[in-house]
Amino acid sequence: MLYSNLSVNEFGHLTIAGLDVASLVNEYGSPLMVLDEDRVREHCRVYVDAVKKYLPSGSKPLYAGKAFCFKALYSIIESEEMGADVVSPGELYVANAAGFPLEYVYFHGNNKTDEDIAFGIDVHIGRFVADNRDELISINRIAGEKGVKQRVLLRLSPGIDPHTHAKINTGRVDSKFGTAIETGQAMELLEFALSLENIDVEGFHCHIGSQIFESEPFSDAAEIMLKFAADAKDELGFITRYVNLGGGFGVRYIEDHPHIDIADNIKKLGECISTTCERFGITAPAILLEPGRSIIADACTTLYKIGSVKTITGYKSYVSIDGGMTDNPRYALYGSEYTVLNASKADKAPDFVCTIAGRCCESGDLIQEDVKIASPKRGDILAVLCTGAYNYSMASNYNRICRPAVIIVKDGKARVGIRRETFEDLIRYDM
Ligand code: LLP
Repeated sequence: MLYSNLSVNEFGHLTIAGLDVASLVNEYGSPLMVLDEDRVREHCRVYVDAVKKYLPSGSKPLYAGKAFCFKALYSIIESEEMGADVVSPGELYVANAAGFPLEYVYFHGNNKTDEDIAFGIDVHIGRFVADNRDELISINRIAGEKGVKQRVLLRLSPGIDPHTHAKINTGRVDSKFGTAIETGQAMELLEFALSLENIDVEGFHCHIGSQIFESEPFSDAAEIMLKFAADAKDELGFITRYVNLGGGFGVRYIEDHPHIDIADNIKKLGECISTTCERFGITAPAILLEPGRSIIADACTTLYKIGSVKTITGYKSYVSIDGGMTDNPRYALYGSEYTVLNASKADKAPDFVCTIAGRCCESGDLIQEDVKIASPKRGDILAVLCTGAYNYSMASNYNRICRPAVIIVKDGKARVGIRRETFEDLIRYDM
């Protein structure tokens, strides 16, 4: 099995953290997202321990809630002593509702409205990551009206182009995010920010992209950001307290993807940071990391019921499931790869080549094309692995399809993390 928490029992059924998927679907219905709490915790601990061991004091990993956020998950993240990054007032609201300590929350986004900013300040958000000049002006004004001095980091674009999907590549100069170092605008922005009386600039943020397997782009980003910190000290006498390097470590969706040793990557990053700071003659700032995918993706499995199995003579076979792009739009959007298996026959050889189709009225509603699974029959359970990141958080009600339930499994027991959407939910905004 691709992950150590998955196995096969005496009935030939897939088990997740020791629980039989057929019993889970019997009890909680289908489609069903199954989140393994221990696996989330293990991933958190790798970050927390490595950051403590290899990065300058005061460094902290923050969970990127955009990957997947709901109240019970925030409680798990909090108990593992990670902070969080939110990118909208909605994500902030969820974190607040979960009782997450907002001191350790960073508010991102390239277009925060005045209402967003006021909300953040009202709930005492730790820091805003200010994207641009207009936003700084608003934060300064609203903080002044509320009588606070607001801590911010400035989002900069380091001009790095890691080899990842174009739509999830965010650190280039030509990007909707942040302010470019290369054009000189970042230094101008810093100078401007320092002139604002209700703003306390603590440092800088960048995020170069997602699903990155190499360690070099992160070291390159660190060097560029630290060089900027050194220039800021020389030119403006500014001392950088924090550098936030964003998220982005890749995850193994399929056997062919490489395994990433996160702790080793953080170790390398730490070495790069200390030599770079020495070279530029600056004190190493605290480093923040914002992993999303690498915390949550492979801790979750989506279970579907197989419906029609249809072979078009001379073409291919379609296996239809009771979910699809409404709960996992990533194949439709990015052509993302997934490991798929017939979880009712997990002991049988995967010998049936087919395309897994969702139930939406949309020909692009596919989960994976030309995969091999063990001979599918109506009623079998299909498992799609590694669906924790950017699945539920990007889910929709297209065709008025209800979002699945999310259950959390731990110590041989399951509990509901997000209840299944109902038809009643679908009309809750209708007047
Ligand atoms: N920090 C910032 C500022 C980000 O923009 C992101 C992701 C992260 C942290 C977390 O990155 P991660 O560790 O998860 O790679 N919907 C796309 C992914 C978009 C990522 C957006 N930003 C997908 O499904 O692949």
